Amino acid sequence: MKIVNIIGARPQIVKVGIVNKSLIATPGIESIIVHTGQHYDENMSKVFFDELEIARPDYNLNVGSGTHGKQTAAMLRGIEEIIIEQKPDWVIIYGDTNSTVAGSLAAAKLHIKSAHVEAGLRSFNRRMPEEINRIAADHISDLLFAPTNTAMNLLQKEGLEKISIFSGDVMYDSILHFEKFAESKIKLESIIDIHDFYLTTIHRQENTDDLARLQNIFSALSQLDLPVILPIHPRTRKILKNVKYASNVNIIDPVSYLEMILLLKNCRKVLTDSGGLQKEAFFLKKQCVTLRDETEWTETLENNWNFVTGTDPKLILDKINAPKINEQNDYFGDGNAVAKIIDSILNY
Ligand code: UD1
Repeated sequence: MKIVNIIGARPQIVKVGIVNKSLIATPGIESIIVHTGQHYDENMSKVFFDELEIARPDYNLNVGSGTHGKQTAAMLRGIEEIIIEQKPDWVIIYGDTNSTVAGSLAAAKLHIKSAHVEAGLRSFNRRMPEEINRIAADHISDLLFAPTNTAMNLLQKEGLEKISIFSGDVMYDSILHFEKFAESKIKLESIIDIHDFYLTTIHRQENTDDLARLQNIFSALSQLDLPVILPIHPRTRKILKNVKYASNVNIIDPVSYLEMILLLKNCRKVLTDSGGLQKEAFFLKKQCVTLRDETEWTETLENNWNFVTGTDPKLILDKINAPKINEQNDYFGDGNAVAKIIDSILNY
């Protein structure tokens, strides 16, 4: 069986990392990786391949930056050519980026079966490009792998239950696999020289493209009682000169996956607008403040593990000090999501 994996942005490289390890170890499966080139800086892409020991992508479309239409169109064109050449049995798409929607559309039009890993997530905010990508990908794929029961229920409501399977979250599998490895391979001192800090990331278009929202976030960070470590996304770096912040905010280059695990394990709490980091904070039992107006990962809100604050500084500062209840439920599966996904594809 030949499987083509479509990836392009940082979180998808992490997901394919853990899935491809099992794909290549399964007799009878040939796995091909297509990188759209949506993320192209070395520290946004190559470092993940090296660190997670993922084989080089078989193809790189090098689409780079552009408007959503231009970027997605270039991906669609490139992926279509590869599917025609390779004639795969399945295409696997991951998450909610422009690379996801391009991969699912190319496969559907060529009548190649496609499987969506991390299906059924909804923010109910159609102004987010990711929301459009997920809805489109779910409705044209052949098999949907839901990371949580909430996602399963949402897929059912949209009439997709017959093709949906609760797999658990591959990012949970990944953390379990790499957590110990990160600690043995990297020392915190090689990344930062601060030991008590808040960890922050900001990259969502809704925050980076709205100066008032972005300034609100930086004002809140500036009033925190500890240093803030902020590995910066290139989109955010471009507009940094337009915001004011205090000296407790430490901007550093984007970090690798293992470095991020180490920062997570050592930080006091997390403030982020990233979907992936919200979950990783939950997996590693760190409280999180989500700098968005909604979250797809509603399970993480239970017992005060996560708060949705938007960008109101007062609310952010209020919630960062809130106590939590230690219990967590295993909403994200049992760490065997990858095995379930591969079994389901083989037995389809
Ligand atoms: C994308 C995904 C988002 C995901 C995020 C993870 C979409 C619509 N969004 O957002 O779901 O959470 O990736 O990071 O697909 N840039 C560089 N170097 C790079 C990559 C990007 O300079 O290596 C700059 C480019 O100018 C680009 C901008 O950052 O225009 C934003 O990149 P883009 O590909 O639009 O997506 P992300 O914001 O990263």
